[in-house]
Amino acid sequence: MIIRQAKRSDIENIASVQVRSWNTTYRGLLPDEIIDARTVESRIENMSTHWKGFEGDLVSRIVLVAENDTKDILGFAAGGDIFHSGYSYDSEGYAFYVLEEYQQQGIGTLLMDELVTFLVSMNFKSMIIWVLEENPACEFYVKLGGIEKERKIDKYGEKEFLLIGYVWEDIRKLKKTIQKIYS
Ligand SMILES: CC(C)(COP(=O)(O)OP(=O)(O)OC[C@H]1O[C@@H](n2cnc3c(N)ncnc32)[C@H](O)[C@@H]1OP(=O)(O)O)[C@@H](O)C(=O)NCCC(=O)NCCS
Repeated sequence: MIIRQAKRSDIENIASVQVRSWNTTYRGLLPDEIIDARTVESRIENMSTHWKGFEGDLVSRIVLVAENDTKDILGFAAGGDIFHSGYSYDSEGYAFYVLEEYQQQGIGTLLMDELVTFLVSMNFKSMIIWVLEENPACEFYVKLGGIEKERKIDKYGEKEFLLIGYVWEDIRKLKKTIQKIYS
């Protein structure tokens, strides 16, 4: 397994991972119409237009992929400067997705390790990640030392959902937490 910065040519495969993962994670938690509207085509359009952090983009953001020996993308992560304004943290994890059949095998932790290495190299100090309250993935962030510090309501269609903001005040400590997991 390697973790590397994504290229724009990876967008289609990343979009496919995201759509598959959205279906296995959010079906039953979010309204079907929201999930059904997230097609591979709509994600390709969104990522190509709005996402930054691919190889060659000179920005304080990064998109990472986890790729196996046969060059299949099994998961991805994205993060960088704070996206949702109004908070005192200087960086944010925007997305973490691993295909269901490869979850709980350490890939998410590898992606987090590489993301934090990047954020530290960019001189960021703290990080927030927003997660839907009912998402079992909350456990992943708690295991990595994220503290539930913020809450906000987001609207998906007509329905309102609670998002939890997991915070790391010092991302260098998160790096140490991950090193302990590996030792
Ligand atoms: C969240 C996610 C990226 C974590 O990736 P992963 O590869 O499964 O994570 P790891 O294998 O590195 O897990 C690290 C720890 O977190 C725990 N964990 C990870 N996902 C979990 C889940 N869904 N429920 C409970 N615990 C979880 C693991 O059990 C592991 O703890 P352990 O070492 O004591 O066993 C992945 O589960 C995922 O893609 N989920 C669906 C998409 C999603 O909800 N993303 C987050 C949106 S904010």
